[in-house]
Amino acid sequence: MNLYDTMMKRRSVRAFQDQEIPEPVIEKLLDVANNAPSGGNIQPLSIILVRNPNGRGKLAELAGGQPWVKNAPLSMIFCLDFYRVKKWAEICRTDFRGEQALNHFLIAYADLMAAAQNVVILAEELGLCSVYIGSIQHEIDETRKYFEIPEYVLPMMLLTLGYPKSIPRTIPKLKKEAIVHQEKYRKLEEDEIRKAFDEKYGKINEDMEKYLERAFIEALEADKQEAPRFLDRVKKEMKRLDIQNNAQFLFQVRYPTKVMVRMNNRIAQSIKNAGFEIFV
Ligand SMILES: Cc1cc2nc3c(=O)[nH]c(=O)nc-3n(C[C@H](O)[C@H](O)[C@H](O)COP(=O)(O)O)c2cc1C
Repeated sequence: MNLYDTMMKRRSVRAFQDQEIPEPVIEKLLDVANNAPSGGNIQPLSIILVRNPNGRGKLAELAGGQPWVKNAPLSMIFCLDFYRVKKWAEICRTDFRGEQALNHFLIAYADLMAAAQNVVILAEELGLCSVYIGSIQHEIDETRKYFEIPEYVLPMMLLTLGYPKSIPRTIPKLKKEAIVHQEKYRKLEEDEIRKAFDEKYGKINEDMEKYLERAFIEALEADKQEAPRFLDRVKKEMKRLDIQNNAQFLFQVRYPTKVMVRMNNRIAQSIKNAGFEIFV
């Protein structure tokens, strides 16, 4: 299969076979992570491989109980790592202050995601599947504690990998015309925006199960795995809040706006606890 086809068939997968990933395959994944572009080629990242059941269980718990994290044979914790760079600078009698510089921070996060995405693509090519777990960012302190992550290092993204048991086929995307601009930014008209998202998600009240499969595949997968009735809870919550459309579903049920904003303090504090002085 050519690269375009591989990338177009990629889906986030949350149901994995109970099958280990051979060591040479993991080595290849790590090679492409290490070969990713990096701002200034500083490579301020570390990857923690978590394979043993205790670590996987802990990660699943830290990710808010997402069962696939425990069920997958491998998770990679992608850490933004200024510890190594700072030490190196010190050894070389100079000063690196990434922990105080927003630019270093943002570029390091971009580096980290470039490395992670290299892994996602090669994994796909090698018959594996993966899913990012961003919710690890809610538990930075506890993740640092359990995995003995030192100061100036932040676990920012989790990538869970394995051989797929089932692959979702119906994930909606915007049409690319909605995200691409020619030469200059063109603000979409209101009706274009409405149409773009309507086309993406379909109608919310036609077939709820189908809708949730498209818009919240995690709910269905969690139900099939270790959190039965999760779907019922989602449906009840939608009824209680009288959810009428996709945006209301996303920002009232799935990512409630107030909760998301309240999370700022927690994340900023965790980043501070790791020795960063960026968001003070
Ligand atoms: C930054 C980021 C964080 C994500 N976090 C989670 C997560 O915590 N749990 C999960 O099941 N999927 C997570 N995903 C996967 C998305 O739900 C998925 O990419 C999206 O539904 C689109 O599906 P696709 O990857 O198959 O195109 C995350 C994806 C990204 C890029």
